[in-house]
Amino acid sequence: MCPPTRNPRAELIVSVQKETAAGERRVGLVPDGVKVLCKAGLDVRVEAGAGQAAGFSDADYQEAGAEIRPDGAALRAEADVLVNVQVRVEALEGLRGDATVAGLMRPLDDPSLAAELARRGHTAFSLELMPRITRAQSMDVLSSQATVAGYRAVLLAADRLPRMFPMLVTAAGTISPSRVFVIGAGVAGLQAIATAKRLGAVVEAYDTRAAAAEQVESLGGRFVQLDLETGDSEDSGGYAKDQGEAFYERQRELMAEVAGRSDIVITTALVPGREAPKLITEEAVYGMKAGSVVVDLAAANGGNVAPSKPDEEVVVDGVLVLGPTNLPSDLPRNASEMFSKNVVTFLQHLVNEGELVLDLEDEITAGAMLAHGGEVKNAMVREKLEGGAA
Ligand code: NAI
Repeated sequence: MCPPTRNPRAELIVSVQKETAAGERRVGLVPDGVKVLCKAGLDVRVEAGAGQAAGFSDADYQEAGAEIRPDGAALRAEADVLVNVQVRVEALEGLRGDATVAGLMRPLDDPSLAAELARRGHTAFSLELMPRITRAQSMDVLSSQATVAGYRAVLLAADRLPRMFPMLVTAAGTISPSRVFVIGAGVAGLQAIATAKRLGAVVEAYDTRAAAAEQVESLGGRFVQLDLETGDSEDSGGYAKDQGEAFYERQRELMAEVAGRSDIVITTALVPGREAPKLITEEAVYGMKAGSVVVDLAAANGGNVAPSKPDEEVVVDGVLVLGPTNLPSDLPRNASEMFSKNVVTFLQHLVNEGELVLDLEDEITAGAMLAHGGEVKNAMVREKLEGGAA
């Protein structure tokens, strides 16, 4: 283990800042991650209280080899690499222009942060931009956090549903199992299916990618076959393609029937770079039984469910529609551990003998790079900025 004092070999200072986004309970690096970086010859500094909401004390960080700084300003003044879960422009004051920033930056939703990071001269790695390739799997925060969200969405729905999940045969009668319909069987969706199945529900799922059927079935779910022509539904990165409005219109009609026989609907459909496809209409919600629960994981991105509102509870004809936007923060310990593991692996990828070495030809480094040398590096974000979206 590293000594609880400054690493004498260290050149590069990695600084872990307390989150400033409202309600955020995760932390960007956990003590186990500090140990790994410390062993790799880096010097880790942590803002006092940064890990508290996730269950990690300052003493835990010190024991792992980090030094504690009393506040964000003191931390930023000496940072070479600043790590946050959610990067906020207000929490960059006093950071040197040549410092690197890593964290979630939502650059496709609001590219103004990207422009500001470039203006200040920072090298910025937006972890949402990490390419979904095998080599980068262990650095993919979207996947790790979606895993947590898929699990949590089911528990949230179960908690609000006025009935149990499993079938029970008891002396007091037989209880039929709850029916769960998961729309979108990517990372979050598959975890939701597995969780609902473990609790004993009958689970159905739909995805436009044909490859998803086998994955759904391997988890014990039933893949819903809709009479729809999805064509070539995947791009080269394995992500879903936009299907066009006529397709969505037909999909909405067909899925309303499945929603109508479900107690819980969990929507996780995503087409990267696009507003979430609207898949459950208000009429479809009206067609569900009173007491049913809908959880829209895409609420922050326009929503898959017409009546859902970000971080609000809406009741439509007795059906509860939830639009939570930060479920990983509800389980901050595991979510932070996974986020930290992704960040540490990424930093190990960038660091060579204690120095940050940026290979701009490397698919991972270049893919996640949002700003560098005074420029916004990501073409899609640049396009949004040029289109006046900022
Ligand atoms: P993913 O890309 O792994 O999965 C999305 C799935 O949706 C893909 O399998 C895709 O084929 C499918 N899809 C696209 N269009 C569809 C359509 N018309 N019908 C059915 N399926 C369709 O994405 P991931 O990582 O699972 O994330 C899912 C969603 O959850 C995203 O919107 C993401 O932003 C959100 N999310 C929300 C969180 C929260 O706390 N609310 C936390 C983490 C993720």
